[in-house]
Amino acid sequence: MKTTFSADAPANVVTHEARGKVLLVTIDHPPVNALSADVRRGLLAAVEAAEKDSAVEAVLLIGAGRNFIAGADIREFGKPPVPPMLPDVCHRIEACTKPVIAAIHGAALGGGLEVALAAHYRIAVEGAKLGLPEVQLGLLPGAGGTQRTPRLIGAQAALDLILSGRHASAKEALALGLIDRLGSSDDILAEGLAYAHELLAAQAPVRRTREAAALSDRAASLAAVNAARAETEKKSRGLFSPLKIVDAVQAAIEQPFEEGIKLERALFLQCIDSPQRAGLVHAFFAEREVLKAPETRTARPRAIESIGVVGGGTMGAGIAVAALDAGLPVTMIERDDASLARGRAHIEKVYDGLIAKGRMSADNKAARMARWTGSTSYDALAQADLVIEAVFEDIAVKQAVFAELDRVCKAGAVLATNTSYLDIDAIAASISRPADVIGLHFFSPANIMKLLEVVVPKQVSADVVATAFELAKMLRKTPVRAGVCDGFIGNRILAVYRSAADAMMEDGASPYQIDAAVRAFGFPMGPFQVVDLAGGDIGWAARKRRAPTRDPRARYVQIADRLCERGWFGQKTGRGFYLYEPGSRSGKPDPEVEAIIDAERERAGVKPRSFTDDEIIRRYMAAMVNEGANVVHEGIALRPLDVDVTFLYGYGFPRYRGGPMKFADMVGLPTILADIREFAEEDALFWKPSPLLVELVERGADFASLNQTA
Ligand code: 3HC
Ligand code: NAI
Repeated sequence: MKTTFSADAPANVVTHEARGKVLLVTIDHPPVNALSADVRRGLLAAVEAAEKDSAVEAVLLIGAGRNFIAGADIREFGKPPVPPMLPDVCHRIEACTKPVIAAIHGAALGGGLEVALAAHYRIAVEGAKLGLPEVQLGLLPGAGGTQRTPRLIGAQAALDLILSGRHASAKEALALGLIDRLGSSDDILAEGLAYAHELLAAQAPVRRTREAAALSDRAASLAAVNAARAETEKKSRGLFSPLKIVDAVQAAIEQPFEEGIKLERALFLQCIDSPQRAGLVHAFFAEREVLKAPETRTARPRAIESIGVVGGGTMGAGIAVAALDAGLPVTMIERDDASLARGRAHIEKVYDGLIAKGRMSADNKAARMARWTGSTSYDALAQADLVIEAVFEDIAVKQAVFAELDRVCKAGAVLATNTSYLDIDAIAASISRPADVIGLHFFSPANIMKLLEVVVPKQVSADVVATAFELAKMLRKTPVRAGVCDGFIGNRILAVYRSAADAMMEDGASPYQIDAAVRAFGFPMGPFQVVDLAGGDIGWAARKRRAPTRDPRARYVQIADRLCERGWFGQKTGRGFYLYEPGSRSGKPDPEVEAIIDAERERAGVKPRSFTDDEIIRRYMAAMVNEGANVVHEGIALRPLDVDVTFLYGYGFPRYRGGPMKFADMVGLPTILADIREFAEEDALFWKPSPLLVELVERGADFASLNQTA
């Protein structure tokens, strides 16, 4: 008989039925069997039922669908807790007087693995993913994971798993001792039942993980904790939960189980309350929401089996690598044989670097290069399903390339441009099939950076947009839908906060102080380090291009131009804002640059003043948020969360702050607006509050309230 626990639970999320002497307990809570309150209640009730039923001799826990249990229900975090709490459910499972077996397929993550660890025996099948990824959400395992895992697999292995948050395969889990048995087929139900019956036949006892003995070498365990603490202090700059994890694992070694659990709980609640948890959980959902652009719901993607790339420079080569890595054949077009050879060499250089680091075999490189063909004739693109243009940033050059694509490509081929700033509507309008034209804005290095801005021109057809999202999936990129404007989402906002940084520099802050403040906020690099890395000439060209249309009243800081005029383009020329020793990529402050800045201040009639790091960040972030609001207001970004994901994946924004718009919500929009109005007293043209920001403040609303509307 199948019993469901629906008396006080609306959904039949946990069912149980007798299979011989085994009570089969199935968690069926789509999409991923997260441990929401109904599931916790259901699990508790199932254990009670097993205890009461004398015909039941063992309990088998299994997940319906593609996973065992993906973890706690992340949507419940930050809301008032609903009993029973997961640690209590785990205790009850562990305390069961009849053997409880967890049969794991798909994800057993976070609380899901903690449930399995509370069971007495564990079997998993190929394809299972076991892990404690709480750290990635600013948390620590809060249902016994920090106490049971080290007791079961030792301090070192537990610390590695919990601090990295990585997923272990079933095979590795077996080697670690996290599971007892690897199933030989992928039929999780059959495997689980067979294992349960085998345990019963062998009269296997109840075996509680809290009593496991992997911490018996206390000195070695404490040494692992000390090493992990030193490493974590060095590596997890600014993060709150990793050191708490180390503390909790230390308690597993030094304290009785119940005391360790108490500490774990207290630390878990501290993490739950931290702004980092809020930022990281926002990032988790935002990076999934961006995938749901309207066209992906209404249109079917076109098939993509081959790719063309026009241009084999920095971007073309990186895009080609990304496509080759995804298993796609790539045809590269260049201007002449020498450029084509350089394009191929760029690609090989990436692979040779991986081989040198031992991260790729020569065979793998050969297999990838076998998918690459090059040509100086566009005719070679006749059969390509999708072509990405990555030639010089010049509309005439690009329109000439698109005229060729229009001539040679088959009907239905998607024609994409990787332009950073140019008007894609104008490119589309210049050919006979504008509905096939789209922007695919990759970031440098294109084989590594995860962001892909999918820039949607006016005339494009919905299935082309859907195809771009599909391509992103194939290339393992995170796509964000953007509208056409100068710089789309990311570079448009970048231009504004760069201007804010330039203004602070001219007003008295050194570029080195600004970079340091921005790094302390959590970015890997400050804005002037980024200029030196990307090459100062790129921004210089863009500034020159914009000069004729620049508002003559707008403040224009010329310091960067003075450096470029000297040929100081950053790392590639050995000096930019910083001075680089030959072969070094980390620069030193340059007194000559400081002298140039002084001279520019004088020329501009600025009396330098000092800035605190806090003032720097207030201005930097206010500029970023204000332009982010404009971008949403104008429909360039669908929602604030699209701005957040753009910055998390393309601009090094610290993930634990959730993105600029989430940051603004956490600071409070009235505070940001008040800052902007204060700064506007010095420069009203630059610090013009975004109408959206003003409206939200007037309504008492926040950016999050706009995140549901795509
Ligand atoms: N809670 C709530 N919703 C969740 C969830 C969770 N733990 N995990 C996934 N989801 C949702 C996703 O938001 C998505 O919803 P949507 O369809 O509305 O966008 C849906 O489930 C499917 O998720 P994915 O698109 O990610 O599906 P995949 O098949 O690609 O991946 C997965 C599945 C590997 C399980 C992946 O979703 C994942 O990694 N989930 C998070 C796992 C995790 O971090 N668990 C730890 C939670 S914290 C915890 O357990 C605390 C405990 O110690 C007390
Ligand atoms: P690049 O100068 O390194 O490469 C351009 C390549 O295009 C050269 O190899 C050149 O020989 C080739 N080319 C020029 N005209 C051609 C033609 N008519 N037919 C075939 N090949 C031609 O430039 P990069 O940096 O790769 O930029 C390319 C595009 O990508 C630009 O639109 C740029 O704005 C954009 N982009 C650049 C980023 C970067 O960080 N470098 C980031 C994102 C986009």
